[in-house]
Amino acid sequence: MTEFTPRIFSGIKPSGGVTLGNYLGAIKRWVDMQGPDFQTIYCAVDLHAITVWQDPAALRNGTREIAAALIASGIDPERSILFNQSQVSAHAELAWIFNCVARVGWMNRMTQFKEKAGKNAEAVSLGLYAYPALMAADILAYHATHVPVGEDQKQHVELTRDIAAKFNNDYKVDFFPLTEPVIEGPATRVMNLRDGTKKMSKSGESDMERINMTDDADTIAKKFRKARTDPAPLPDTLDELKDRPEARNLVDIYAGLSDSTPQAVLSDYAGAGWGKFKPALADLAVAKLSPISTEMSRLMSDPSEIDRVLARGAERAKALAEPILARTYGIVGLVG
Ligand code: AMP
Ligand code: TRP
Repeated sequence: MTEFTPRIFSGIKPSGGVTLGNYLGAIKRWVDMQGPDFQTIYCAVDLHAITVWQDPAALRNGTREIAAALIASGIDPERSILFNQSQVSAHAELAWIFNCVARVGWMNRMTQFKEKAGKNAEAVSLGLYAYPALMAADILAYHATHVPVGEDQKQHVELTRDIAAKFNNDYKVDFFPLTEPVIEGPATRVMNLRDGTKKMSKSGESDMERINMTDDADTIAKKFRKARTDPAPLPDTLDELKDRPEARNLVDIYAGLSDSTPQAVLSDYAGAGWGKFKPALADLAVAKLSPISTEMSRLMSDPSEIDRVLARGAERAKALAEPILARTYGIVGLVG
């Protein structure tokens, strides 16, 4: 790996567990991107998590749990740089610069903010509003060129490009790259098991609407059995799933877990009813997820070892981010 190896950066919030959406939309794809072609940098974004209230003990535990989930899923802390965001102060420092580059009008268009703030926009934290500028800093502190994320983060990566372009333009430099979002695979938007029009999320009110990486086999089977569907059997073509969001979601999940495509899943199951498909999906999910959750609990039994891995990752991350931050300060005209 040289200083010119393209860099991949991605992050996940340590706020309350890891879902099947996180796994298929992000983590599994991060694992696959490790290799000689890219330098891979993965981060538990604890500073993003505190944009909404986090109990301190739960945040500490959540950060270690994210690290355990990533390692158990196949992120190798030697091949990838794995750390938590707050240990590398360049993220917060560059975010301040970007707060001064990004425009209020841009932030006002962020759909995630609008959804999270809801009717309560006056009472949410200023951090929640500035969240995408910190995300741009995460990415650009490494001059990362590719960011593998789920569909819901596309707008934030586009904002990152806008911030990079405006910075380069304002200061007449060609310094920050225009980062590409990488949104690939059959499960870039895993939906809620109870309502196929809503995203599966960590914070949805009912646990039955999501699969957690730590769910045991019986719970996984029960959640898929009770997942909302419609009475029709599985069709031959994807086109016929157009107005069947819950059915489409289960097919996408099956494809994601089996490294297949939704069309190939339909070829195998066309004509099958849910009584056949749901147990097959549950078996597949248990086969893929239970080794990960077993390894997660093993890793979680030694938190100090996780902390050592994160500290070592943070040192490596600093070595990349600090020179980029120093050059940014120089470009901006900050004396030091
Ligand atoms: P978060 O848990 O919000 O920090 O998200 C971490 C990563 O998981 C991001 O790349 C998200 O786009 C991805 N992600 C979260 N929920 C889903 C979902 N339901 N489907 C696909 N990807 C998701
Ligand atoms: N905002 C992302 C999410 O919720 C998490 C995140 C923070 C991120 N910084 C990032 C993702 C940088 C990719 C790159 O899901």
